[in-house]
Amino acid sequence: MPLRTPVVAGNWKMHLGRAPARDLVTALRDALGGLRGVEVVLCPPAPWLADAHDLLAGSPLHLGAQHVYWEPHGAFTGEVSAAMLAGIVQYVIIGHSERRHRFGERDEDTARKLRAVLELGMQPMLAIGELREQREAGETVTVLRRQLLAAWEGLERLPARSIIAYEPVWAIGTGLTATPAMAQDACAHVRAIVEERFDAATAETCRVLYGGSVTADNVATLAAEPDIDGVLVGGASLDAAAFTAICHAVAAAKGA
Ligand code: 13P
Repeated sequence: MPLRTPVVAGNWKMHLGRAPARDLVTALRDALGGLRGVEVVLCPPAPWLADAHDLLAGSPLHLGAQHVYWEPHGAFTGEVSAAMLAGIVQYVIIGHSERRHRFGERDEDTARKLRAVLELGMQPMLAIGELREQREAGETVTVLRRQLLAAWEGLERLPARSIIAYEPVWAIGTGLTATPAMAQDACAHVRAIVEERFDAATAETCRVLYGGSVTADNVATLAAEPDIDGVLVGGASLDAAAFTAICHAVAAAKGA
């Protein structure tokens, strides 16, 4: 068993109606059910999670939510609690840059969400990443450290095999992918920050993913980097053939 099982997660964002979503889950279940050595996580829109859960019964593919609210229940119109997701999904994306930048999610919100998800036994996929201006100003590592430390506020330990996704904002949905060297450098810094804040064992087992314009064509060189433990895929995760090819490329790059 490798120290870190690689992860390929598909963030469908706000795409696909019910029937096409069911078709995509079914196609991926059939195409990827036999793939070993890679954890595959599908993150469809919230209304289709229950359908996806039923379609994936008995399949090794995992399910993730794109969003969560930290309160367990109450008068919070439109929100979905961790308690409602538990039992349906194993993973929850937290801190995605679209939540941070379009919906004003603050660093302290990510901490509340992270704790709510952990308390209910699910795995957070904590997304962090710098803006273009921050990279150009040489602030990338400072931004990543701030986002990580804020999300871990009050946390004594991070569960083994936790997932952090490094997604530079300038690479999301733009077709501009970070070079493998840039992504490796940032992911290695993320792992070092995990060690600094928790311990070496946590850092060694923590899965650090890269996200931002990942495709079947560019994934192999990214996944070949030692500190990149997989990918969080947006646009290309909506295409069964492309996403399947990405999963196989990660498995091959990691010797799975
Ligand atoms: P794209 O792969 O479409 O750039 O999106 C990346 C992303 O935001 C995944 O969470």
